[in-house]
Amino acid sequence: MKTKSASISIIGMGYVGLCTAATFASRGIRTIGIDIDQVRVEQISKGKAPLHEPQLDSMLKNAVRKKLLDATSDISLAADTYATFLTVGTPSQQDGSIDLSYIKNATEDLGNVLRDKPGYHLVVVKSTVVPGTTNGVVKRFLEQSSRKTVGSELGLCTNPEFLKEGTAINDALHPDKIVIGSNDKKSASELTRLYHRFYGSKLPPTILTSPEAAELVKYASNAFLATKVSFINTIANIAEQIPGVDVGKIAEAIGLDPRIGPLFLNAGPGYGGSCFHKDLQALINYSQNKNYDPVMFRATEETNEQQANRVVGLAEKLLGSLPFKRVAVLGLAFKKDTDDIREAASIRVINQLYKKGARVIAYDPMAIPNTRKQLQEQIDYAENARSALKGADCAIIMTEWEEIRKLKAKDFQAHMKTPNVVDARRVYNPEEFSGLNYASIGLGPSTGIKNNSP
Ligand SMILES: NC(=O)c1ccc[n+]([C@@H]2O[C@H](COP(=O)([O-])OP(=O)(O)OC[C@H]3O[C@@H](n4cnc5c(N)ncnc54)[C@H](O)[C@@H]3O)[C@@H](O)[C@H]2O)c1
Repeated sequence: MKTKSASISIIGMGYVGLCTAATFASRGIRTIGIDIDQVRVEQISKGKAPLHEPQLDSMLKNAVRKKLLDATSDISLAADTYATFLTVGTPSQQDGSIDLSYIKNATEDLGNVLRDKPGYHLVVVKSTVVPGTTNGVVKRFLEQSSRKTVGSELGLCTNPEFLKEGTAINDALHPDKIVIGSNDKKSASELTRLYHRFYGSKLPPTILTSPEAAELVKYASNAFLATKVSFINTIANIAEQIPGVDVGKIAEAIGLDPRIGPLFLNAGPGYGGSCFHKDLQALINYSQNKNYDPVMFRATEETNEQQANRVVGLAEKLLGSLPFKRVAVLGLAFKKDTDDIREAASIRVINQLYKKGARVIAYDPMAIPNTRKQLQEQIDYAENARSALKGADCAIIMTEWEEIRKLKAKDFQAHMKTPNVVDARRVYNPEEFSGLNYASIGLGPSTGIKNNSP
């Protein structure tokens, strides 16, 4: 492995770390990806992505072939690089508070290998961490294990990541902003210099601030987006009570107001993914520990939790009752173009269906292996959408995959025992489904449920 001339190292080769590594390498910056998961490391070393993300496979293959990206589980190689990014997970603990154990371990391991390094080393916290973590836990662990001082031999920055799974590569190549939090000028200017190398003359707007403010920017961003989703879902649930009203029109109209904007106004089964729920929980917990109860974010979370019940409620309304009914769940990933099912609304819906006695058969183009790991044989799995529909009493659309979006009313009619369709993602035109028993999130009764008798 050629490591001496590598410029940066990244600890944690998950979604964020791997996509960051691939994009850095694609810009000619030598990168070492470090992970404790040996299987993952071996796969990456062969140029194969251990997760599904558009463009990632080809980018990775290229980077490995050109020897711009190496993967290893040997953290001592980080000392050969100029800067190390921390991109390990920051999951929730039982009480919703942030679990910093991965951050602590990775920081300590890094500090140990930096102890004998001559010269400067920049450490960049890219993981999402609550305000005070970089200047507190990370600084303390780093200084203790390296026996060096932050601000002189060591640089330390917070640099939150805003990429979205499904469009992660494009987001990393063209971010709308870069946020850098640091306490000393050198750390911030070294990281800015690295990004100059990455983006050339097209450096995105760069916000320089304190580590605590940079940490809070990330939480504020996710809390705003999650609240926007819960907001439109609340309007959708109201719209469902009003004959002739479709939440799509409401979203279209309010989205024209530049103060509101059109994005993130798609009503649906509730948000999922690895970040919104855990970050809101961490923010709520953090805030409550500071003696402030963020009522609004608790409502955002509760609204989201209830949205899965509403999806199941629509199915129940169409079917009359759920016990022994065969329900086809189309789509498992928390959104299209990913195989990630962490906190996916599909899992909440499936658990509800299961509790209510329905028999579930699920299909997803990418996420079945991950779902099987979590739900095992609690449900059946289909090889394609049409076979999932075979003999089903009801179909619930849970992910907006193109393949699922392309299904026509006649596909449901041809394969299902009774064509009851709950469009939780609002992917179909209700008029084209008028011959079926069709219900959709946010669709008022006269244009929605045509026949809700069992
Ligand atoms: N996934 C996203 O879309 C996204 C977007 C923005 C920010 N974030 C944040 O980025 C961070 C990482 O998220 P992710 O989704 O990439 O996580 P992930 O769980 O997919 O990956 C984390 C990786 O870190 C590795 N790891 C753990 N401890 C390690 C150690 N001591 N040394 C080396 N490797 C170690 C794990 O094996 C795993 O491969 C989190 O804080 C998350 O909140 C995630």
